[in-house]
Amino acid sequence: MRILVDKKHIQNRIGDVAWEIDRHYNKQDWYKNTKEPVIVLGVLSGGMFFMADLVRQLSIRTEMDFIRVSTYPGKATTAQKPRIIVEPTKLLHNAHILIVDDILDTGKTLGCVKEHLLYPHFPIVQFRPASIQTAVLLCKPGKAVNNMTADFVCCGIEDEWVVGYGLDYNGRYRNLPYVAVLE
Ligand code: IMP
Ligand code: MG
Repeated sequence: MRILVDKKHIQNRIGDVAWEIDRHYNKQDWYKNTKEPVIVLGVLSGGMFFMADLVRQLSIRTEMDFIRVSTYPGKATTAQKPRIIVEPTKLLHNAHILIVDDILDTGKTLGCVKEHLLYPHFPIVQFRPASIQTAVLLCKPGKAVNNMTADFVCCGIEDEWVVGYGLDYNGRYRNLPYVAVLE
């Protein structure tokens, strides 16, 4: 295993990104003029490690919720399509949402979550969040199939399969405190 991003660098970058996120929301009129929190929506399971560290470095008002998306076991193939398997528990109508995930690779997962929040299968009430921002720990540049980008990114990495800090290979290695490449 080769360490790609060590623990200290991850923590420093999360601090920088937390500052950017604070600055973004502190500038919004709704944030200044209401008592509404930002709903930090973690994508399970991989996103929870980054989310736990990120929210503890934010100064803005937050509440937390989670969404679970099925992903491909082991390594990615282009044919697979993610789907929502556990819904958030909060009613997110008119909410200001910050989606937090471990990595942006093909962009399908974030695309699926965003689309689900914007166009849920909710036939009676018109259900729309007020805003959606996205934050990821890692980003593999140039691979997104749907022009998906994240608003806040801690580290750009090469196109290699990485593990640790929430990222797994067949369910293992999520708990490593650094990001590493399996060799
Ligand atoms: P995307 O849908 O291709 O953008 O990938 C996002 C999801 O795929 C992430 O939330 C991860 O669960 C998983 N994933 C993508 N690349 C990697 C990797 O290099 N290691 C571990 N998991 C990954
Ligand atoms: Mg994931």
